Amino acid sequence: RTVYLNGAFLPENEAHISIFDRGFLFGDGIYEVTAVLDGKLIDSALHMARLERSVGEIGGRLPVTTDEIVAAERRLIADNNLREGMIYLQYTRGAEDRNFLYSEDLAPTLLMFTQAKSLDQGSVMEKGLKVKTVPDQRWERRDIKSVCLLPQVLAKRAAKAAGCDEAWMIEDGMITEGASSTAYIVTADNKIITRANSNATLPGCTRAALLQLAEEHGLTIEQRPFSLEEALNAREAALTSASNFIVPITVIDGKPVGDGKPGPVVTRLRALYMENAR
Ligand code: PDD
Repeated sequence: RTVYLNGAFLPENEAHISIFDRGFLFGDGIYEVTAVLDGKLIDSALHMARLERSVGEIGGRLPVTTDEIVAAERRLIADNNLREGMIYLQYTRGAEDRNFLYSEDLAPTLLMFTQAKSLDQGSVMEKGLKVKTVPDQRWERRDIKSVCLLPQVLAKRAAKAAGCDEAWMIEDGMITEGASSTAYIVTADNKIITRANSNATLPGCTRAALLQLAEEHGLTIEQRPFSLEEALNAREAALTSASNFIVPITVIDGKPVGDGKPGPVVTRLRALYMENAR
């Protein structure tokens, strides 16, 4: 596989990062995951806008323009013959001797690599995913796509131990989001409920694209927090992320959502999203 590191396209085993990189020592970095379908980047402009915002919020600066990043991503897709999968991008503040404070002139680290993965799977649409709830133990700036992912790693491990596919995180009795996805429910009167963007969650790019499509097709969206109890009484539930697009959730904490099968609203949203993406 060819990877990108600081302006160079290299074989993956020739791409090296310093042991002093602040991403490694402090988690002082930002990342983005963008889906690739039929060799095309999905929701690329939304991911680039969020990247710029996250980097700005930590007082960093990208070493190249987002147009140059997208051009590099396209080159990686071509060089690696990637048809379906993702591009992972990571920005860190750079490398220097360990110190919480950093030099203002530090050269950032920017890397990108492709990951082949089957994304448009029918099987998940037949059964749906199982979710386990866990306490949300993250910091208060979840709108920044930081590489500090220990709470999410632990949440996903707990979900897997319970035979589940994703963790839903709870704060003050309300679902914030999934460990790596945005959370939704559908009420008995077919309203799609998801939290409004704030510092409490990551503003999902898939969410933004999907809500626009849903609105264009006359579906009702209510942006507000929902509780675990409301989710357990919902007709349908779903998650979105760049790596899953939109998929139904059929079990929460071992209890079926609605009739325990993927429902019509989420199935329709999936069709709308995939049609638009392809
Ligand atoms: N995760 N919420 C969290 C906490 C996330 O980590 C993600 C994405 C999302 C969905 O955002 P988007 O639709 O822009 O992918 C919501 C990526 C896929 C990851 O960590 O691998």
